[in-house]
Amino acid sequence: SIHGNLKQGSAAVAQEIASLIRSKQAKNENCVLGLATGSTPKSLYAELVRLHREEGLSFKNVITFNLDEYYPIEHDALQSYNRFMHVNLFDHIDIDPKNIHIPNGEIPKDKIKSHCIQYEELIEQSGGIDLQILGIGNNGHIGFNEPGSSIFSKTRLVTLDNSTRIANSYEFPTFSQVPRLAITMGISTIMKARRVILMAWGPAKAPVVQKAAEGHVDEQIPASLLQQHNEVSFVLDEAAAAEL
Ligand code: GLP
Repeated sequence: SIHGNLKQGSAAVAQEIASLIRSKQAKNENCVLGLATGSTPKSLYAELVRLHREEGLSFKNVITFNLDEYYPIEHDALQSYNRFMHVNLFDHIDIDPKNIHIPNGEIPKDKIKSHCIQYEELIEQSGGIDLQILGIGNNGHIGFNEPGSSIFSKTRLVTLDNSTRIANSYEFPTFSQVPRLAITMGISTIMKARRVILMAWGPAKAPVVQKAAEGHVDEQIPASLLQQHNEVSFVLDEAAAAEL
């Protein structure tokens, strides 16, 4: 769907999340959300916080799994996705801390493999992701699944593209401090979600949104693999939709 601006698009996504949470509450079920970081979902999280404060939306039955985290990075580092999620969402809602899952940027190197396997198991044990939120990188990445990521990929340690390190360098004091690695859910992890919403705002995303939505299904544009999902929506502002 195409919206006049990112606030309207974010509000529409927040409404879908709120009604999913409420319908699960009515059935006494948990609601499992896959969450993203970056600038794109910030206004979605602000709207969810508003719905919690002003309309009593409770997150007591919500379980979350974040897509990705830099590696290595300390939990409290300014640039960590762990900190981002707490500052932008978790600190302001009534979610149970034990229901929050984010790949661990502090895990020792020799434990990364088992951590990734466990992350996949935790998703399955929770009943699977009901709704996965995504942004999109300029090179078509989703999570940190860079071009060339297999449709079969699972949660794993990946090497960031140089273009991704450049794009994200504004968050770090110097370019060399941008981590070279990350832990990310795989494409197959994302594809297993029962519903997927990819959000993109602004003119800079227009070319990659066009390739992802209308181009060939191609592992070189990881977001294009979403065309194979049967419950996916792209939520865009007019600028990001300009090349469709
Ligand atoms: C980051 C994240 C992605 C995000 C993308 C776009 O590197 N790992 O999950 O969707 O790049 O970022 P932004 O929303 O700031 O444009």
